[in-house]
Amino acid sequence: MASVYVSRRLPDPVMAELARRFTLIGKPHDRPATREELLEAAAQADALAVTLTERVDAEALETAPRLKVVAVYAVGYDNVDVAAATCRGIVVTNTPDVLTETTADLAWALILAVTRRIPEADRLVREGRWEGWAPSQLLGADVYGKTLGIIGMGRIGCAVARRAAGFGMAVLYHTRHPLRHEEEVMVHATHLPLTQVLQAADIVTIHTPLTDFTRGLIGKAELAMMRRSAYLINTARGAVVDEAALAEALEQGRLAGAGLDVYQHEPHVHPRLLELPNTVLSPHIGSATTEARVKMGLMVAENITAVLEGREAPHRVN
Ligand code: DGY
Repeated sequence: MASVYVSRRLPDPVMAELARRFTLIGKPHDRPATREELLEAAAQADALAVTLTERVDAEALETAPRLKVVAVYAVGYDNVDVAAATCRGIVVTNTPDVLTETTADLAWALILAVTRRIPEADRLVREGRWEGWAPSQLLGADVYGKTLGIIGMGRIGCAVARRAAGFGMAVLYHTRHPLRHEEEVMVHATHLPLTQVLQAADIVTIHTPLTDFTRGLIGKAELAMMRRSAYLINTARGAVVDEAALAEALEQGRLAGAGLDVYQHEPHVHPRLLELPNTVLSPHIGSATTEARVKMGLMVAENITAVLEGREAPHRVN
């Protein structure tokens, strides 16, 4: 049987399926693999199943003479040097589709939590500080009927847009490759230049992959284009947003709030964001449902099996 390294413990049904199909190298921990563990395992592996907490760079690939496939347990694969893998003939795969609706739900959870100040409200009640209903207590902002701006209109962006119909929202979007007209009609969305989306939206939500093009896409200048009453949501990758510039804009009241699930230097969160009452911060849980995480794992197993059997991997990215 082929030797497969799983960089950290995945849900039980996934571990069982991987163990049924392959000889697993070592026993995965419930923490990120250390660099040493990764390099040592890569040296003997036919396949690597890695999460976004492991960096599979050129050095790691060089230490892996037998390696045929790097199967990423995520839709985003910015932790893998895909160009280096391609040069060495190593297939890289990801897990799209199965987490689309799950991540779109989380984006909406953050939209509603930050606009309606749910964490603040929860703390007030839980800490015994609530003295009863009051006319001006915890006033938030309506979502219904507002304008949603979506940056990055792939699968997840489209799923977020579809949900916006239930909130009677106008949807504007910006993406490098605009949707076809029929697709735009289906999600009721209008493509505009980035600056116009930022200027017009009440809520801006980010759904781009992290690439050389999107790194730092939302910086000081872009934040300054947004309305003072607007909210920024990020469930994509932290490095798309300049966190220091975001903290400054929020502190200075140049933005109403932010809902963030991802950070520039995870698990470190910019300390100024932690102090602000108008941020809702979740720990990168976009795909964190049992259903999605099991499906992602089974997809990893399928991708690895296909490559090791000499077939085309269903979700190859290179
Ligand atoms: C992804 O899939 O890219 C998420 O960030 C982790 O599930």
